[in-house]
Amino acid sequence: MRILLTGGAGYIGSHTAVVLTQAGHEVVILDNFCNSQRSVLERLKSILGKGLLCIDVDVRNTASVSKALRDYQIDAVIHFAGLKAVGESVQNPLKYYANNVQGSISVLQAMQEVGIKTFVFSSSATVYGDPKYLPYDEDHPTQPMNPYGWTKLQVEEILHDLSKSDPQWKISCLRYFNPVGAHDSGLIGEDPNGIPNNLMPFISKVASGELPQLNIFGNDYLSKDGTGERDYIHVMDLADGHMAALDFLSNNSGWHAINLGTGVSTSVLELVEAFEGVIHKKLPKEFVERRPGDLPIYYAKVDKAKNTLGWEAKRSLQDMCRSSWDFKKKNLSPAQ
Ligand SMILES: NC(=O)c1ccc[n+]([C@@H]2O[C@H](COP(=O)([O-])OP(=O)(O)OC[C@H]3O[C@@H](n4cnc5c(N)ncnc54)[C@H](O)[C@@H]3O)[C@@H](O)[C@H]2O)c1
Repeated sequence: MRILLTGGAGYIGSHTAVVLTQAGHEVVILDNFCNSQRSVLERLKSILGKGLLCIDVDVRNTASVSKALRDYQIDAVIHFAGLKAVGESVQNPLKYYANNVQGSISVLQAMQEVGIKTFVFSSSATVYGDPKYLPYDEDHPTQPMNPYGWTKLQVEEILHDLSKSDPQWKISCLRYFNPVGAHDSGLIGEDPNGIPNNLMPFISKVASGELPQLNIFGNDYLSKDGTGERDYIHVMDLADGHMAALDFLSNNSGWHAINLGTGVSTSVLELVEAFEGVIHKKLPKEFVERRPGDLPIYYAKVDKAKNTLGWEAKRSLQDMCRSSWDFKKKNLSPAQ
């Protein structure tokens, strides 16, 4: 299959590009590099032993997306392109709706024009909001708590309407939990600038000495040890999940929302301890105030992914920590 990965130069897209290419698919990346480095293309070439086609375009440029779909005779699209910082979405909601919702509509319009109807969407567990029960299953009510989450839910709704309007559409909304880790090569991974919002890059930066200590936001939650609990999933398992979703869609039309998580709830302290075990060193840490808007606990019910996609996460917490650390060690210099 020829698959267009919008946002394919980003964290999850680049790992998915590896998995799909190694499985024999032809991958074309489309990205405007607003949150990724062009050097990722060289790194993908080193991993894969061949270069991938890449188009430097904003997904909101519908004509250019149509042209790419036609020129490269694309069969299916995985739409990763989007902005993902929850805090920024609260401060600048228009930027998020314009990029994430308008961007998705643009890609779908291009697909409709060209007659391509297989679409995998990067959704998020944030669509669920405050848990009414746990683990979240796909029927859990959806009530996002921030503009970022609403952009994901709105796109899901648009996709649902589209599939009702034309039964030939094959759509999967993959609701990711907390992706962490990196490819075993240590060449691609997640390395945000500054102070990271997410725990694993924060831990890595403390371990490497780039940040002096780890701030743990809240130790008085009603959780197993007082710290927040999340469902961390290895990014390579997540990448495998996209291939499973494409396989599933080859025989199934309609709209399908599916959780991609491990089903395991891990506390901040458990993750830190696992990381310390990998680096054989204790990290300086301090408990600080809870962050407004953080949920105490959430994790996925994963039965639907298992039953419909035949997919489940395989990699351990240690694998997630080890690969994150290997990536960090290989990327200590600021010039990347
Ligand atoms: N990483 C997570 O924790 C997480 C969790 C749930 C959902 N998601 C979703 O998964 C997708 C991928 O996430 P990621 O972690 O790889 O993020 P990322 O920022 O690393 O990758 C996103 C890519 O999209 C590109 N992009 C953004 N807007 C674009 C536009 N208008 N046109 C073209 N390219 C554009 C960026 O340059 C980047 O390369 C996003 O849609 C994100 O919302 C991520």
